Amino acid sequence: MNDLITERETLEERYLRQIFIRDQMAEFAKDPFVMTGADGIYYTDIDGKRYLDAIAGIFVASVGHGNRRVIDAIKVQLDTMAFAPVMHGTNALAIQLANKLAEIAPGNINSVKFCSGGSEANETAFKMARQYHKLNGHPNKYKIISRYQSWHGGTFAALSASGLTSRRVDSEPLAAGFIHVFPPYCYRCPFGKEYPSCDLTCAGLIEDTILMEDPETVAAVIVEPIGHTGGIIDPPSEYLPQLRELCNRHNVLLIFDEIITGMGRTGEMFAADTFGVVPDLICLGKGISGGYMPLSAVLCQRQIADKFWGDKTINPGFVSGHTYEANPIACAAGLATIGEIIEKDLCSNTRKIGNYLREGLERLRKHGIIGDIRGKGLFLGVEFVRNPASKEKFENDIPIGTLIGKRALTKGLLTRYDPHWMSLGPPLILTQEQADDIISILDDCIAEVLDEINT
Ligand SMILES: Cc1ncc(COP(=O)(O)O)c(C=O)c1O
Repeated sequence: MNDLITERETLEERYLRQIFIRDQMAEFAKDPFVMTGADGIYYTDIDGKRYLDAIAGIFVASVGHGNRRVIDAIKVQLDTMAFAPVMHGTNALAIQLANKLAEIAPGNINSVKFCSGGSEANETAFKMARQYHKLNGHPNKYKIISRYQSWHGGTFAALSASGLTSRRVDSEPLAAGFIHVFPPYCYRCPFGKEYPSCDLTCAGLIEDTILMEDPETVAAVIVEPIGHTGGIIDPPSEYLPQLRELCNRHNVLLIFDEIITGMGRTGEMFAADTFGVVPDLICLGKGISGGYMPLSAVLCQRQIADKFWGDKTINPGFVSGHTYEANPIACAAGLATIGEIIEKDLCSNTRKIGNYLREGLERLRKHGIIGDIRGKGLFLGVEFVRNPASKEKFENDIPIGTLIGKRALTKGLLTRYDPHWMSLGPPLILTQEQADDIISILDDCIAEVLDEINT
């Protein structure tokens, strides 16, 4: 084949046969979506068409594409050392990044285990929770409680914890010891109740589940502070504090999967800060390195880390790791990305522009198909309905979110869409003018799609 694929003519179907993507491949090959460049909040595809990236790749490009500071830090590190031996110790950049994370993390969360991707981080958190309980005299605590509709990753334990049926069934049977509970989806409460008179049945049932399973067998509860895959499941303010309390009562560790919500996305460095709750472990990925290198991390409270520092005769340490953990180039990217978020105060930009973008979404209610707008900071989602008053959904043969999302792509706007909802998660450097562009394109797309389905 040609050395370089630079334009559509060079993209013959036989080349596409050599690669698996995450979607239906035959469909993809009909009109392949192939990117060749990125700058700021824009992507360029193989035809030279520009896209406003309203989803930061996939919640990754936190500081935007082509960020000079991150690129330069990576270049310097490439010239210095690309890989350090992981079986013997670590590298200087990893120690620096761990200390930076410890400094900015909430409460006494101040120890860090690095990995390369979000699934790896969650797997590592499960193993850390189980081994912690063993070292702490509770060897039978192994079960992990998680929520339906959640996504914690595609590797086996992360997938077992995930609650998204459509992504689980093809890989079943999954690992044992993972138990699912219903999420705090207030717009369509799984218990048919209304907030606040519901008294947070969804949180109460997590405690009931721990009791029914026997607390002496439960290691941890894992939640995304704001769930993405169910359609931006943003819990009522009491939900996470209640989880914190019930986990404390039963000596169960609380894990926040902040792979999406971490590193400024909700308007604070961690969603734990946004909700004012300190979990026992936080998993970070995606935006931690701005998309410049694969990097993820598990952060844990001091008292958990302390258990792994005991005498060698009774304590093997945390025997878990991956070849590319704490890769020095990835750590350089992480340090530069965090530096950029802090020095440019991107958390306050996220709060400010997040509110502005949300106001824009509110204006789109005029089309009469927006049932709910959810999320925090620059992590926002819209649930589409046939009738906002009754919350009636669109018929199955009208996947309204997908129709609008695909229409947006034709107009150069990248979002994350599903048959009934759409989410936005642009780079944290978004400006008001760019937010206006997002809303204006969505406005046109909704009008056009409604025109089509109503004629
Ligand atoms: C909340 C959450 N957790 C974990 C993961 C898994 O991360 P990765 O795909 O990097 O393994 C994802 C990925 O989308 C995610 O959104």
